[in-house]
Amino acid sequence: MADMTLEEKIGQTAMRGTSSRVKGALPEALKQSVREGRAGAFLNVMNTDYVDELQRIAVEESASGIPLIFARDIIHGFKTIFPIPIGISATWDEEIARTAARISAIEGTSVGIRWTFAPMLDIARDSRWGRIAESVGEDPYLGSLMARGYVEGFQGNDLTDPTSMAACAKHFIGYGAAEGGRDYNTVVIHEPLLRNVYLPPFTAAVDAGALTFMSAFNEVNGMPATGNQFLLKQVLRDELAFNGFVVSDWNSVIEMVSHGVARDKKQAAELAAKAGLDMEMTSQAYEKNLKALVEEGKVSMEQLDFLVANILRVKLKMGLFDNPYRDKDRSAKFYQKEHLEASKDAAVKSMVLLKNEEEVLPVASGKKVALIGPLSDAPHEQLGTWTFDGEKDKSVTPLQAFKNAVYFAGHSNGMAYSRDTSESMYEEALALANSADVILFFGGEEAILSGEAHSRANIDLPGKQEKLIKKLAATGKPIVLVIMAGRPITITNIIDEVDAVLMAWHPGTMGGPALYEVLTGVQEPGGRLPVTWPKTAGQMPLYYNHKNTGRPADSSSFVHINDIPVGAWQSSLGNESHYIDAGFTPHFPFGYGLTYSDFRYTNINSSSPTMTVEETLEVSVEVTNTGDRQSSEVVQLYIRDLVGTLTRPVRELKDFKRVDLEAGETKTVSFQITKQDLAYVNHTMKTVVEPGDFEVWVGPNAMEGLKVAFELK
Ligand code: GLC
Repeated sequence: MADMTLEEKIGQTAMRGTSSRVKGALPEALKQSVREGRAGAFLNVMNTDYVDELQRIAVEESASGIPLIFARDIIHGFKTIFPIPIGISATWDEEIARTAARISAIEGTSVGIRWTFAPMLDIARDSRWGRIAESVGEDPYLGSLMARGYVEGFQGNDLTDPTSMAACAKHFIGYGAAEGGRDYNTVVIHEPLLRNVYLPPFTAAVDAGALTFMSAFNEVNGMPATGNQFLLKQVLRDELAFNGFVVSDWNSVIEMVSHGVARDKKQAAELAAKAGLDMEMTSQAYEKNLKALVEEGKVSMEQLDFLVANILRVKLKMGLFDNPYRDKDRSAKFYQKEHLEASKDAAVKSMVLLKNEEEVLPVASGKKVALIGPLSDAPHEQLGTWTFDGEKDKSVTPLQAFKNAVYFAGHSNGMAYSRDTSESMYEEALALANSADVILFFGGEEAILSGEAHSRANIDLPGKQEKLIKKLAATGKPIVLVIMAGRPITITNIIDEVDAVLMAWHPGTMGGPALYEVLTGVQEPGGRLPVTWPKTAGQMPLYYNHKNTGRPADSSSFVHINDIPVGAWQSSLGNESHYIDAGFTPHFPFGYGLTYSDFRYTNINSSSPTMTVEETLEVSVEVTNTGDRQSSEVVQLYIRDLVGTLTRPVRELKDFKRVDLEAGETKTVSFQITKQDLAYVNHTMKTVVEPGDFEVWVGPNAMEGLKVAFELK
């Protein structure tokens, strides 16, 4: 640091982007800026010759010799694509997140990428938001486990290992709370909510050693996250003792002009630098203004040194000073058999069975199935959002997985793509349906209909999928709806037309084989909903860990809009919190997911009716597999704090265990409750554990289960 000039310090805070489509020689100007130490990192350099050349210039020709770090969005796979992150959360298995991240890092580092912009840890309570697809779901406990898995997976056990990839916890913070589910929109979160719900996954990322964070596009309570001293200094540095570096999200520094808190890019740079935003992605406000800001005394040299030290510390920890060059010996080991196997395994465990009448699934041997629908053979779409480097010709689609199988009766897309309104293929589809025993309809969303900037106000099946499904159902053949989408899809209009519903999210490269194994019963679907599944978009935001309100919805007094007497007197309706048309319950609750068996919960017990903050309370329940095949159940533990200084959620997930049970087998599942499970941040912004009455629920999802009460003394 002491040897560095002001320009070289500023250079470290600049991340340069270049289009990954640049062909031919590197622009001389770009090379010169590296030679002069005016860049500290690069984004999206996907030509390994460029990576090698730029690094050589930085290390051997620049005065400081400080190595570059190369970054890319490697969110759920580099070449081998895993299910989209909301699908990985649906596995309720931190190990799957860790494995997906580790494989992503092995593949991505082989082309010189040592820093990924993942995991995305934004709690999401609104399925209209396109980036719910990338999220860890709606729950802070599940999200925190995923955060740890991803960070440890990407970074590995040794940061100096060539396969170690710096993780980036993003987007700090509250991005998923954008008003109306409209991406980039206004975020207002009162501080206890921010600390109790949105912060925990980021705290878990710091505890797991995440080397970098990314700020968010949105404002938080009036101050954009990118210039927010409360978030970046008080919370992230002072409270969480984070000592890596924070990068802006794309142009979020200069977007503070659009937000209206900076009159120009220079003031935006000042706000960001003072808040502790260490590195600016692509928008060059630092590069063009920091020198003047320091010389004018608006940004102190001490503050600039703080930014630069954070960046150098990460490069040092990653061993880039000792080994700056790409590890050429590890030629790109993409699509290794074990990588593809891990991706298929993740997809199987991510799929959530929402309905299965008459046990239409798994498809009985001897039955002939018709594969129909716009996602039955859509190799690009099944990869989902943020698959910059995934290759669709490596995808194995449901058609490819089924077509040589004994079950296969034929295939028709029925529609050219998910939004198609043409009916020209209906005839062919219906004829095929009539010739088969079971219809497997693969519907949902094209990949582009979720992800960044792709929020939807109506989250029904796009195009005329509902119409085609109704026509197919009219054939009288059993019909299975397989949904591939980046969000819960409202299926209220057609749920009664189909016999089974399987949510496959966007399952990735191996979606086809995974679906084959699940639909034919080789494996059962392992997923449980990581987000609440709404009946209609009008219910959004909708989430399980809601407050009780002074007038909680009450099924005994609820009167549906169709049952309201004409001329009813205003006060004759149940005055509780509900919609008179959509009621007050989700279509499927958080944690929900059927298996190919059934489970019964009995004999919930607690070790004592009271506990103190020094004690541990043990709660146990018996779980029986009442079905006729081996199966696995995710037994979930929720608590409810009945009386707090602040109002408290009606349920909070605090633990879960996946248990495998043979047909007829019963196991006792025990949980240990400690004061950590009862703690929350109240209006004093301190973490407190308040004596009083609590309820503990153990069950298969956030709306069912057995209850036991205890008093915290
Ligand atoms: C995008 C996204 C962010 C991503 C970055 C770089 O706008 O918000 O998640 O990592 O820019 O692509």
